This record gives sequence, structure tokens and C-alpha cells, in this order.
Amino acid sequence: MLIRYKKSFEKIAMGLLSFMPNEKDLRKLLQTIKDYENEDNLQLFLWREEEDIIGLVGVSLTENNIEVQHISVNPSHRQLGIGKAMIKALNDMYAEKELTANEYTEAFLLKCEEGCKSSD
Ligand SMILES: CC(C)(COP(=O)(O)OP(=O)(O)OC[C@H]1O[C@@H](n2cnc3c(N)ncnc32)[C@H](O)[C@@H]1OP(=O)(O)O)[C@@H](O)C(=O)NCCC(=O)NCCS
Repeated sequence: MLIRYKKSFEKIAMGLLSFMPNEKDLRKLLQTIKDYENEDNLQLFLWREEEDIIGLVGVSLTENNIEVQHISVNPSHRQLGIGKAMIKALNDMYAEKELTANEYTEAFLLKCEEGCKSSD
């Protein structure tokens, strides 16, 4: 299930974020986490299965739009549908908004576009 980020998840969130190609630099990573903590229009979610945090998705919200900024799954849990499940959960949570990608998440969003709509 998708849960909201909180400070106690900082280290696991940074580990997951670091799998993004644009978050390899530690200073950038720290700034990104800080932005998610401080900016009202930025929301970070984690994917929890039982007690394990194995995925992360970060979004930027506007009135009509939700843009996926970051998406990452623990390498040991990839290819099991978690990435798509996170996108579907976002579509369900923000059903009134249009879900879009940025340049770093576009490839995966395009990949799962057909299978992640809330009506599925
Ligand atoms: C992208 C990512 C979140 C997918 O998570 P996942 O849980 O393995 O995804 P799912 O199991 O739901 O879906 C797997 C499908 O996505 C495809 N996929 C994986 N990474 C992809 C990428 N970067 N671009 C496009 N498609 C991708 C797989 O090939 C697979 O396709 P298939 O269904 O035809 O076999 C994961 O690979 C990851 O954390 N990557 C590193 C971070 C990253 O690069 N994020 C940005 C991605 S654009």
C-alpha cells in the first residue's frame, strides 16, 4: 500500500531515490528530500508491503495535474508490478487530476499508461 513519507523514513527514502538517474549526487539527493519535506505542492509516498518499504513515488501537484517526479523500486522487488501498482494507486488517490510525467519518469509512465488507469 501507498503511505505518506515521514521523517523517520528519511534514510530508506534516500536509498530508493538514489536509484533515479538524476539523483546520484548526494547533495542533490539531500536537497530533493528537503524539498519534499518543505514544499506543500510536493508529495512523497512510499510503497509498503507488510513491514518492508520497497518503493517510492514522488509527485508535484497543481490544481488539475499530478506530475510524477520520481519513481523507484528496490532492485530485489522489481518486475513484480510494484511500479505499476504505485501509479495505479496515485491515479485512484487523485482521480480528478491528470497524471503526467517529467523527463525522468516518462519512459516508465508511457510503459504502464495502458495498465494503470484507475478504472482498471
Ligand atoms: C522503473 C521502476 C520503478 C519500475 O518498477 P517495477 O516495479 O520493476 O515495474 P513493474 O514491475 O510494475 O513493471 C515492469 C515493466 O516496466 C518496464 N520498465 C522498467 N523500467 C523501465 C524504464 N526505465 N522505462 C520503461 N520501462 C521500464 C519493464 O521492462 C517491465 O516491462 P514488461 O511489463 O513489458 O515486462 C524500476 O525499474 C526502478 O526503480 N528503476 C530505477 C529508477 C528509475 O530509473 N526510475 C525512472 C524510470 S523512467
